Amino acid sequence: MEIIVTEDYESMSRSAAEIILRQLKDKPDSILGLATGSTPEGMYRCLIKAYEEGTADFSKVQTVNLDEYIGLKGTHPQSFRYYMDTKFFDWVNISKKSTYMPDGMELCIDKIADDYEKKLEEIGKRDIQILGIGGNGHIGFNEPADSFAEYVNVVELTEETIAANSRFFSDGNVPKRAVTMGIKDIMSAERIILIVSGSSKRGILKKALYGGITPKVPASILRLHPNLVVIADREAGEELEEVR
Ligand code: GLP
Repeated sequence: MEIIVTEDYESMSRSAAEIILRQLKDKPDSILGLATGSTPEGMYRCLIKAYEEGTADFSKVQTVNLDEYIGLKGTHPQSFRYYMDTKFFDWVNISKKSTYMPDGMELCIDKIADDYEKKLEEIGKRDIQILGIGGNGHIGFNEPADSFAEYVNVVELTEETIAANSRFFSDGNVPKRAVTMGIKDIMSAERIILIVSGSSKRGILKKALYGGITPKVPASILRLHPNLVVIADREAGEELEEVR
């Protein structure tokens, strides 16, 4: 495990983007597992900047996202599809056909999960999986639980997560369910980059990295991954020991 503590949010974002850019240089047809939330926004801005400057090419890249709300159309401003389109895909030379998101509007719940799991198999091993961490230690939408959900699953979001996400929903209609990659799916990526920002994540990040490995703190399992890079800004990571 590598632990990098950066000066601020911008340098955290840049460091994560640099790893992706190096990956694309080595393998232009890389498969990227992507995440939403406020944490990766700066990283996407850095990737867009690299594209605009002519140093990044996404034409052969395939992406698959971690999760999606159930019941929101892709055109809903809070859907993760909308987030990915407006904050990243629309600004670079990636074909939308190469960007997979689970379909939160499919009425049959079993089909949502089946299609998503099949897609993960079909697309193959992700070269990099980007992750953020929820305030309660969730990764994707794998909430604290008594056991780890291995594969794609539809989850009832916890009150804490609904409350955390309500800041984005002005009408108060925060979805209560979501579909997410399972823990085994996440762990099957070749490399995982966990990015963490802000003092509100300091405690849970410490727990995830130094506490027991437990489904009560889903991110704690990441320590078992052979190629995990944690990039935290100073506010989130000031109590961590850097490992390079
Ligand atoms: C959401 C997403 C996670 C994300 C987490 C933290 O619930 N499902 O993938 O890591 O929130 O988000 P933020 O980066 O906004 O703190």
